[in-house]
Amino acid sequence: MADVKHIAVLTSGGDAPGMNAAIRAVVRTGLANDLRVTGAVRGYRGLIEREFVEMGPTSVSNIIQTGGTILKTSRSDDFMKPEGRATAARNLEAEGIDAVVGIGGDGTFRGLIDLSREQGVRVVGVPGTIDNDITGTDNTIGFDTAVNTALESIDKIRDTAQSHDRVFFIEVMGRECGAIALEVGLSGGAEAIIVPEVPADVDETCDLLTRGKKRGKTSFIVIVAEGAYKGGAATFAKEVSDRIGVDYRVSILGHVQRGGSPTSFDRVIASLSGREAVNALLAGKNGQMVGVECGRVVLVPLEKAVAGRKTVDLELLKVAHIISQ
Ligand code: F6P
Repeated sequence: MADVKHIAVLTSGGDAPGMNAAIRAVVRTGLANDLRVTGAVRGYRGLIEREFVEMGPTSVSNIIQTGGTILKTSRSDDFMKPEGRATAARNLEAEGIDAVVGIGGDGTFRGLIDLSREQGVRVVGVPGTIDNDITGTDNTIGFDTAVNTALESIDKIRDTAQSHDRVFFIEVMGRECGAIALEVGLSGGAEAIIVPEVPADVDETCDLLTRGKKRGKTSFIVIVAEGAYKGGAATFAKEVSDRIGVDYRVSILGHVQRGGSPTSFDRVIASLSGREAVNALLAGKNGQMVGVECGRVVLVPLEKAVAGRKTVDLELLKVAHIISQ
């Protein structure tokens, strides 16, 4: 067993529904093991600016169902520099903090790796991002909620698309990863899904809409991941319409996908992962991410989690294409 008595927990990068459930699990597991738990406010910025809050048992009451993060979050430029990380390490030592649990995405994990390697701080990461773009875990906390939030809007848009015989181009989040687009594309019955992993082809979408129209379809849903086309869904839609002249509208779902009450699935993986993060530190582990594989928590080296791009399941694209025609 490692000599861990006092841990810090922080959330960093884009927030994700379920982060609060993860914080709760870290705090309550820590306290159950007689650890002192401190929250760092606004992620790495809190470590540098020494903005810490004591996390007692009631500090995490009534948050399992809430979106956002009670610890707030930010993307800290200062922490990207060695001097910033040295200040953070000094502050952790001054507070008597032995280890850090960081909840976030790949940027957060890179920060944890540097903090551990360069400053000798013990760290564990918990994947929390709506993007589901982390290697070594089936799901990141927040992805399931974001997908369901987007899907609810897409279903509503389908109603009006059908009434007006329109083509709707719906932009969902995902600058470099098409995971949300693929999932909502298939589950929302989209006729076309444009993801960053596959070069976008305007002609192909034009053909698809033309063929669909010939078969009697009068309305269409095209899902575009935000990073899949230069200029986003608006530019893609215009180029399609310039070629084949369709009555279209563009809907950018945006940050609505980042908020809201987490689904049961996200709450469960957040709770399991938060608990495992503390257990891993107590067992003397360092530099690990708590991943989820086939519903079970696993430890994966943080280096592996940030190495390369997670491959999305392009099978979803094929299936969506076949069954939406
Ligand atoms: O990483 C999560 C995410 O929501 C991405 O899907 C999106 O591209 C980005 O954050 C948006 O970041 P910001 O909130 O800084 O605009």
